[in-house]
Amino acid sequence: MAVDLMETKTQKPEVETLVTEPQTQEVSITTRDLSLWYGDFQALENVTLNIRKGIITSLIGPSGCGKTTLLRCFNRINERYGNVTTTGEIRILDKNILDPDVSTRQLRKSVGMVFQRPNPLPISIYDNVLFGSNIHAAHKGISRSVRDQIVEEALVEVDLWDSVKDRLKQRATWLTLEQQQKLCIARLLPLKPEIILMDEPCSALDAEGTEKIENLIERLREEFTVVIVTHNMAQARRASDECVFMLLGEIIEHRPTADLFMTPENEKTEMYIQGRYG
Ligand SMILES: Nc1ncnc2c1ncn2[C@@H]1O[C@H](COP(=O)(O)OP(=O)(O)O)[C@@H](O)[C@H]1O
Ligand SMILES: [Mg+2]
Repeated sequence: MAVDLMETKTQKPEVETLVTEPQTQEVSITTRDLSLWYGDFQALENVTLNIRKGIITSLIGPSGCGKTTLLRCFNRINERYGNVTTTGEIRILDKNILDPDVSTRQLRKSVGMVFQRPNPLPISIYDNVLFGSNIHAAHKGISRSVRDQIVEEALVEVDLWDSVKDRLKQRATWLTLEQQQKLCIARLLPLKPEIILMDEPCSALDAEGTEKIENLIERLREEFTVVIVTHNMAQARRASDECVFMLLGEIIEHRPTADLFMTPENEKTEMYIQGRYG
Protein backbone atom coordinates (compact mmCIF):
# COMPACT_ATOMS: atom_id res chain seq x y z
CA MET A 1 0.00 0.00 0.00
CA ALA A 2 2.80 2.39 0.85
CA VAL A 3 4.07 2.43 -2.69
CA ASP A 4 0.60 2.71 -4.18
CA LEU A 5 -0.23 5.65 -2.02
CA MET A 6 2.91 7.50 -2.93
CA GLU A 7 3.25 6.78 -6.62
CA THR A 8 -0.18 7.34 -8.06
CA LYS A 9 0.02 11.12 -7.61
CA THR A 10 -0.93 12.42 -11.04
CA GLN A 11 1.06 15.06 -12.87
CA LYS A 12 -0.44 18.51 -13.08
CA PRO A 13 -1.08 19.74 -16.61
CA GLU A 14 1.89 21.69 -17.93
CA VAL A 15 -0.14 24.44 -19.54
CA GLU A 16 -1.11 27.33 -17.32
CA THR A 17 -4.80 28.04 -17.47
CA LEU A 18 -6.97 30.78 -16.12
CA VAL A 19 -10.01 28.53 -15.92
CA THR A 20 -11.05 28.27 -12.30
CA GLU A 21 -13.41 25.36 -12.88
CA PRO A 22 -11.95 22.09 -11.62
CA GLN A 23 -10.35 20.33 -14.54
CA THR A 24 -11.14 16.79 -13.65
CA GLN A 25 -14.01 14.62 -12.56
CA GLU A 26 -11.57 12.25 -10.95
CA VAL A 27 -12.56 11.07 -7.50
CA SER A 28 -10.19 11.22 -4.56
CA ILE A 29 -12.25 9.74 -1.72
CA THR A 30 -15.18 7.36 -2.08
CA THR A 31 -17.21 6.05 0.82
CA ARG A 32 -19.79 3.29 0.51
CA ASP A 33 -22.28 2.63 3.29
CA LEU A 34 -19.91 4.04 5.86
CA SER A 35 -21.28 3.77 9.38
CA LEU A 36 -19.51 4.57 12.63
CA TRP A 37 -20.37 3.98 16.27
CA TYR A 38 -18.83 5.43 19.42
CA GLY A 39 -19.69 2.58 21.77
CA ASP A 40 -23.34 1.97 20.93
CA PHE A 41 -24.00 5.54 19.74
CA GLN A 42 -24.21 5.68 15.96
CA ALA A 43 -22.54 8.87 14.70
CA LEU A 44 -22.48 8.10 10.95
CA GLU A 45 -25.18 6.25 9.07
CA ASN A 46 -24.63 4.71 5.65
CA VAL A 47 -22.60 7.56 4.27
CA THR A 48 -22.05 7.13 0.54
CA LEU A 49 -20.04 9.91 -0.99
CA ASN A 50 -17.61 10.78 -3.78
CA ILE A 51 -15.19 13.59 -3.06
CA ARG A 52 -13.60 14.93 -6.21
CA LYS A 53 -9.92 15.31 -6.67
CA GLY A 54 -8.29 18.72 -6.76
CA ILE A 55 -11.22 20.72 -5.45
CA ILE A 56 -12.26 22.06 -2.06
CA THR A 57 -15.19 20.22 -0.54
CA SER A 58 -16.76 21.54 2.63
CA LEU A 59 -18.72 19.53 5.18
CA ILE A 60 -21.46 21.62 6.76
CA GLY A 61 -24.31 21.01 9.18
CA PRO A 62 -25.35 21.76 12.74
CA SER A 63 -23.09 21.01 15.67
CA GLY A 64 -22.98 17.31 16.46
CA CYS A 65 -24.13 16.13 13.01
CA GLY A 66 -20.93 14.14 12.41
CA LYS A 67 -18.74 16.46 10.32
CA THR A 68 -15.62 15.95 12.40
CA THR A 69 -16.30 12.24 12.69
CA LEU A 70 -16.59 11.85 8.92
CA LEU A 71 -13.45 13.91 8.34
CA ARG A 72 -11.53 11.81 10.85
CA CYS A 73 -12.54 8.64 9.03
CA PHE A 74 -10.47 9.68 6.04
CA ASN A 75 -7.19 9.24 7.90
CA ARG A 76 -8.56 6.77 10.47
CA ILE A 77 -7.74 9.09 13.30
CA ASN A 78 -11.12 8.31 14.91
CA GLU A 79 -9.56 5.11 16.07
CA ARG A 80 -7.67 7.14 18.66
CA TYR A 81 -10.90 8.16 20.32
CA GLY A 82 -11.76 5.01 22.22
CA ASN A 83 -14.44 2.48 21.47
CA VAL A 84 -15.02 3.11 17.76
CA THR A 85 -16.56 0.67 15.28
CA THR A 86 -16.51 1.46 11.59
CA THR A 87 -18.30 -0.50 8.84
CA GLY A 88 -18.53 -0.01 5.09
CA GLU A 89 -15.84 1.09 2.74
CA ILE A 90 -13.60 4.14 2.31
CA ARG A 91 -11.59 4.11 -0.89
CA ILE A 92 -8.63 6.42 -1.20
CA LEU A 93 -6.17 5.94 -4.06
CA ASP A 94 -7.94 2.74 -5.06
CA LYS A 95 -7.54 1.10 -1.72
CA ASN A 96 -10.11 0.43 0.98
CA ILE A 97 -8.33 2.16 3.85
CA LEU A 98 -10.30 0.11 6.37
CA ASP A 99 -8.56 -3.06 5.16
CA PRO A 100 -6.40 -4.68 7.83
CA ASP A 101 -3.22 -4.45 5.75
CA VAL A 102 -3.33 -0.66 5.55
CA SER A 103 -0.55 1.17 7.36
CA THR A 104 -2.13 4.08 9.21
CA ARG A 105 1.26 5.78 9.31
CA GLN A 106 1.45 5.66 5.53
CA LEU A 107 -2.16 6.69 5.22
CA ARG A 108 -1.64 9.77 7.40
CA LYS A 109 1.27 10.80 5.21
CA SER A 110 -0.99 10.82 2.16
CA VAL A 111 -3.93 12.26 4.05
CA GLY A 112 -2.70 15.16 6.16
CA MET A 113 -4.79 16.90 8.78
CA VAL A 114 -5.07 20.42 10.20
CA PHE A 115 -6.94 20.92 13.46
CA GLN A 116 -9.19 23.61 14.93
CA ARG A 117 -6.52 25.04 17.17
CA PRO A 118 -3.08 25.32 15.60
CA ASN A 119 -0.92 22.72 17.30
CA PRO A 120 2.73 23.37 16.42
CA LEU A 121 5.22 21.50 18.58
CA PRO A 122 7.13 23.60 21.15
CA ILE A 123 10.27 23.37 19.02
CA SER A 124 11.68 25.69 16.37
CA ILE A 125 9.81 26.78 13.27
CA TYR A 126 12.45 24.95 11.22
CA ASP A 127 12.11 21.71 13.14
CA ASN A 128 8.32 21.85 13.02
CA VAL A 129 8.39 21.77 9.22
CA LEU A 130 10.75 18.82 9.23
CA PHE A 131 9.18 16.91 12.09
CA GLY A 132 6.78 14.85 10.00
CA SER A 133 9.33 14.00 7.37
CA ASN A 134 11.89 13.05 10.01
CA ILE A 135 9.43 10.60 11.47
CA HIS A 136 8.52 9.21 8.10
CA ALA A 137 11.93 9.44 6.42
CA ALA A 138 12.79 6.18 4.77
CA HIS A 139 16.48 7.13 4.78
CA LYS A 140 18.08 9.27 7.44
CA GLY A 141 21.09 11.42 6.71
CA ILE A 142 19.42 14.00 4.49
CA SER A 143 21.97 16.79 3.98
CA ARG A 144 21.63 20.15 5.62
CA SER A 145 21.14 21.95 2.31
CA VAL A 146 18.35 19.59 1.28
CA ARG A 147 16.67 20.08 4.64
CA ASP A 148 16.98 23.85 4.28
CA GLN A 149 15.40 23.60 0.88
CA ILE A 150 12.49 21.48 2.13
CA VAL A 151 11.81 24.02 4.87
CA GLU A 152 12.00 27.00 2.53
CA GLU A 153 9.73 25.46 -0.10
CA ALA A 154 7.08 24.52 2.44
CA LEU A 155 7.13 27.95 4.10
CA VAL A 156 7.02 29.75 0.74
CA GLU A 157 4.02 27.68 -0.30
CA VAL A 158 2.03 28.78 2.76
CA ASP A 159 3.19 32.39 2.43
CA LEU A 160 5.11 32.35 5.70
CA TRP A 161 8.70 32.41 4.47
CA ASP A 162 9.18 36.17 4.25
CA SER A 163 7.99 36.78 7.79
CA VAL A 164 9.98 33.99 9.46
CA LYS A 165 13.09 33.43 7.33
CA ASP A 166 15.30 35.36 9.74
CA ARG A 167 14.09 33.54 12.82
CA LEU A 168 13.69 29.93 11.78
CA LYS A 169 15.25 28.75 15.02
CA GLN A 170 12.68 30.56 17.12
CA ARG A 171 10.06 28.52 18.91
CA ALA A 172 6.97 28.08 16.74
CA THR A 173 4.68 28.72 19.68
CA TRP A 174 5.78 32.39 19.59
CA LEU A 175 4.10 32.90 16.23
CA THR A 176 0.63 34.45 15.92
CA LEU A 177 -2.22 31.94 15.69
CA GLU A 178 -2.61 32.62 11.98
CA GLN A 179 1.11 32.01 11.43
CA GLN A 180 0.92 28.87 13.56
CA GLN A 181 -1.94 27.55 11.44
CA LYS A 182 0.06 28.27 8.27
CA LEU A 183 2.96 26.39 9.82
CA CYS A 184 0.70 23.43 10.60
CA ILE A 185 -0.23 23.34 6.91
CA ALA A 186 3.41 23.80 5.87
CA ARG A 187 4.59 20.81 7.88
CA LEU A 188 2.27 18.52 5.91
CA LEU A 189 3.77 19.52 2.57
CA PRO A 190 7.16 17.73 2.73
CA LEU A 191 5.18 14.49 3.07
CA LYS A 192 3.60 15.18 -0.33
CA PRO A 193 0.05 14.51 0.75
CA GLU A 194 -2.68 13.75 -1.74
CA ILE A 195 -5.45 15.02 0.51
CA ILE A 196 -5.52 17.70 3.21
CA LEU A 197 -8.25 17.53 5.85
CA MET A 198 -9.08 20.66 7.81
CA ASP A 199 -11.38 20.74 10.81
CA GLU A 200 -12.64 24.30 11.27
CA PRO A 201 -9.13 25.61 10.58
CA CYS A 202 -10.08 29.26 11.13
CA SER A 203 -12.12 28.92 14.29
CA ALA A 204 -9.30 30.21 16.52
CA LEU A 205 -8.48 33.13 14.20
CA ASP A 206 -9.71 36.70 13.87
CA ALA A 207 -11.28 38.01 10.64
CA GLU A 208 -7.94 39.00 9.12
CA GLY A 209 -6.31 35.67 9.94
CA THR A 210 -9.36 33.84 8.58
CA GLU A 211 -9.12 35.70 5.29
CA LYS A 212 -5.45 34.84 4.94
CA ILE A 213 -6.00 31.17 5.68
CA GLU A 214 -8.94 31.05 3.27
CA ASN A 215 -6.74 32.56 0.57
CA LEU A 216 -4.12 29.94 1.30
CA ILE A 217 -6.67 27.12 1.08
CA GLU A 218 -7.77 28.50 -2.27
CA ARG A 219 -4.20 28.24 -3.53
CA LEU A 220 -3.80 24.67 -2.27
CA ARG A 221 -6.73 23.51 -4.33
CA GLU A 222 -5.80 21.74 -7.57
CA GLU A 223 -2.49 20.61 -6.14
CA PHE A 224 -4.30 18.86 -3.32
CA THR A 225 -7.76 17.60 -2.60
CA VAL A 226 -8.99 19.66 0.34
CA VAL A 227 -11.84 18.65 2.65
CA ILE A 228 -12.80 21.31 5.14
CA VAL A 229 -15.25 21.17 8.02
CA THR A 230 -16.91 24.45 8.81
CA HIS A 231 -19.94 25.55 10.77
CA ASN A 232 -19.63 28.92 9.10
CA MET A 233 -21.87 28.96 6.05
CA ALA A 234 -20.34 32.15 4.69
CA GLN A 235 -16.98 30.42 4.77
CA ALA A 236 -18.36 27.37 2.98
CA ARG A 237 -19.78 29.63 0.27
CA ARG A 238 -16.56 31.59 -0.11
CA ALA A 239 -14.09 28.80 0.19
CA SER A 240 -15.49 25.61 -1.35
CA ASP A 241 -16.32 24.21 -4.76
CA GLU A 242 -18.66 21.53 -3.49
CA CYS A 243 -20.62 21.32 -0.29
CA VAL A 244 -21.89 18.33 1.69
CA PHE A 245 -24.76 19.04 4.06
CA MET A 246 -25.07 16.58 6.95
CA LEU A 247 -27.71 16.02 9.58
CA LEU A 248 -27.69 13.45 12.39
CA GLY A 249 -24.90 11.41 10.85
CA GLU A 250 -26.40 11.28 7.37
CA ILE A 251 -25.69 13.08 4.15
CA ILE A 252 -28.68 15.12 3.12
CA GLU A 253 -27.34 16.86 0.05
CA HIS A 254 -24.04 17.06 -1.83
CA ARG A 255 -23.85 19.59 -4.66
CA PRO A 256 -21.69 22.29 -6.17
CA THR A 257 -21.60 25.01 -3.51
CA ALA A 258 -23.48 27.67 -5.47
CA ASP A 259 -26.26 25.20 -6.36
CA LEU A 260 -26.64 23.96 -2.81
CA PHE A 261 -27.04 27.49 -1.49
CA MET A 262 -29.09 28.94 -4.36
CA THR A 263 -31.36 26.01 -5.19
CA PRO A 264 -31.27 23.45 -2.38
CA GLU A 265 -33.02 20.24 -3.38
CA ASN A 266 -33.89 19.04 0.08
CA GLU A 267 -36.12 21.05 2.37
CA LYS A 268 -33.86 20.25 5.33
CA THR A 269 -30.96 21.88 3.48
CA GLU A 270 -33.15 24.86 2.76
CA MET A 271 -34.12 25.18 6.42
CA TYR A 272 -30.49 24.99 7.47
CA ILE A 273 -29.21 27.60 5.08
CA GLN A 274 -32.05 29.89 6.06
CA GLY A 275 -30.70 29.58 9.60
CA ARG A 276 -33.79 27.83 10.88
CA TYR A 277 -31.81 25.26 12.81
CA GLY A 278 -28.25 24.59 13.92
N1 LIG B 1 -15.04 10.45 21.02
C1 LIG B 1 -16.38 10.43 21.06
N2 LIG B 1 -17.03 9.58 21.89
C2 LIG B 1 -18.38 9.55 21.92
N3 LIG B 1 -19.19 10.31 21.15
C3 LIG B 1 -18.59 11.17 20.32
C4 LIG B 1 -17.16 11.29 20.22
N4 LIG B 1 -16.87 12.23 19.30
C5 LIG B 1 -18.05 12.69 18.84
N5 LIG B 1 -19.08 12.05 19.44
C6 LIG B 1 -20.52 12.27 19.18
O1 LIG B 1 -20.74 12.00 17.80
C7 LIG B 1 -21.64 12.96 17.25
C8 LIG B 1 -20.96 13.66 16.09
O2 LIG B 1 -19.89 14.45 16.61
P1 LIG B 1 -18.92 15.28 15.69
O3 LIG B 1 -18.46 14.44 14.59
O4 LIG B 1 -17.91 15.90 16.57
O5 LIG B 1 -19.93 16.39 15.12
P2 LIG B 1 -19.64 17.83 14.46
O6 LIG B 1 -18.21 17.90 14.08
O7 LIG B 1 -20.58 17.88 13.30
O8 LIG B 1 -20.02 18.85 15.49
C9 LIG B 1 -22.04 13.90 18.39
O9 LIG B 1 -23.26 13.44 18.92
C10 LIG B 1 -20.90 13.72 19.37
O10 LIG B 1 -21.36 13.95 20.70
MG1 LIG C 1 -16.69 19.20 14.69
